[in-house]
Amino acid sequence: KNYAIGIDIGGTNIRAALVNSAGEVKSKLKESTGTKPIAVIHKLIDSLSSKYAEQICGIGIAVAGIINRNAGIIMRSPNISALSGIDLEADIKSRYKTCVVIENDANAAAYGEKCIGAGKDFKNFVMLTLGTGIGGGIIVNNKLLSVAAEVGHMSIRADGQPCACGNVGCLESYASASAIIGNAVSEIEKGTNSTLKAMYNGNFYKITAEDIYKAALDGDPLSRTVLREAGKSLGIGIANLINILSPDAIILTGGLLGAWNIYVETAIQEASKRTLKELYSNVKIIPSLLGDNAGIIGAAQLVFEECRV
Ligand code: BGC
Ligand code: NA
Ligand code: ZN
Repeated sequence: KNYAIGIDIGGTNIRAALVNSAGEVKSKLKESTGTKPIAVIHKLIDSLSSKYAEQICGIGIAVAGIINRNAGIIMRSPNISALSGIDLEADIKSRYKTCVVIENDANAAAYGEKCIGAGKDFKNFVMLTLGTGIGGGIIVNNKLLSVAAEVGHMSIRADGQPCACGNVGCLESYASASAIIGNAVSEIEKGTNSTLKAMYNGNFYKITAEDIYKAALDGDPLSRTVLREAGKSLGIGIANLINILSPDAIILTGGLLGAWNIYVETAIQEASKRTLKELYSNVKIIPSLLGDNAGIIGAAQLVFEECRV
């Protein structure tokens, strides 16, 4: 059996595809996560499993949440409330009668990058997914650490902005796409002038992180400030990770990489100031190779590893 179905459930989109053992992605599909993610997952699997059905050895699902890996349960998903507490493995197994692997989305992305991506030649690295939430996955001695690696919820402020997890001051509440959008919107609400204000006929609640990046490139001061501040917070998080783990690389992925020259460069600057210099000189901070396929590919590779007997 040469294919696995890989699925990546993010706060904004669900992506799914057939993946072969070389990591090649076929028939990729994408839907918004919405309020009924389980129904979306079923629909995506239905349409993928109709192709090559006899050649599929299992289904790998990368989920934006805290996973009990042994039980296959989503303990909580801060950004997708409909998934909290769901026994996803049992649901998918009983419906499709096949081998199912559930893993945290950023852990799966780290594994994908390790197998065939930017992490291939690094023995130790930390993967960061920068999107609606911020996720982490840790590779040590070429192996995916089976820990939560919830780096988005590391505390970077004593008090601070509320996070979707219920805490305050988390990295995610300062450096994620949702934080960037939230900060831009609240500045506009306070009356700060910005070209963003005129977008979507004044319905600035529709602003995306990409809009903010474009406005920043066009010289909008509010957009630049918001992206720089987010980058600075990300840099604090990265410095903490390097100081703790002394990885060979930090590999970044997610929609926010589009804003590399403002957001990521500010983060790198900040990280370089805060990291122990002995450790900083050994680390590379680089973009992922697999982009938004990292989670799908990683989930599928886990299937090949765990389902093939
Ligand atoms: C979740 C993580 C997830 C990350 C990226 C965070 O809010 O707690 O489990 O990996 O978002 O999706
Ligand atoms: Na993780
Ligand atoms: Zn949090």
